[in-house]
Amino acid sequence: MIRICFVCLGNICRSPTAEGVMKKLVAEAGLSEKIHIESAGTGDWHVGELPDPRSRKTAERRGVPLSSRAQHFSATTFDRFDLVLAADSNNVKSLQKLARGEQDTAKIRLLRDYDPSAPKGSDVPDPYYGGPEGFEEVFDQCEAACRGLLKTLAAASS
Ligand code: 4NP
Repeated sequence: MIRICFVCLGNICRSPTAEGVMKKLVAEAGLSEKIHIESAGTGDWHVGELPDPRSRKTAERRGVPLSSRAQHFSATTFDRFDLVLAADSNNVKSLQKLARGEQDTAKIRLLRDYDPSAPKGSDVPDPYYGGPEGFEEVFDQCEAACRGLLKTLAAASS
């Protein structure tokens, strides 16, 4: 069992989108028993909330209903996961600050580094204060990255 956690700031837009997309891809690949997927936020303002209605609408239209509840990523959250995938470089920095040592730090990755078509170091930009096109972009970027991530994980678990 590989345990992965997608992380963004609020855990209501980017990381729940990645969680929903990845769960669908993993189910289609028949790997749901082998890959455990959650998401969390480095900020705690939205804990307990469903994803933002704009994220839910975008994802639902594309066949991915989002039903997770926001949770806060704290230092001990590292213990529950093997891989922690940050939506952007700010979240990488926040996670590095939370990390209690090399064991935690080694779990942190930038999500879009799994997308072979994205330049190394690419962010999934925060869509919260922007227009609807930002939410479409987030979905596309999460989907491309999750496809690459699944390839990597499937190769590692076979
Ligand atoms: P997320 O987007 O990090 O993709 O969930 C945000 C959601 C809420 C806030 C910021 C970003 N906020 O400031 O409340």
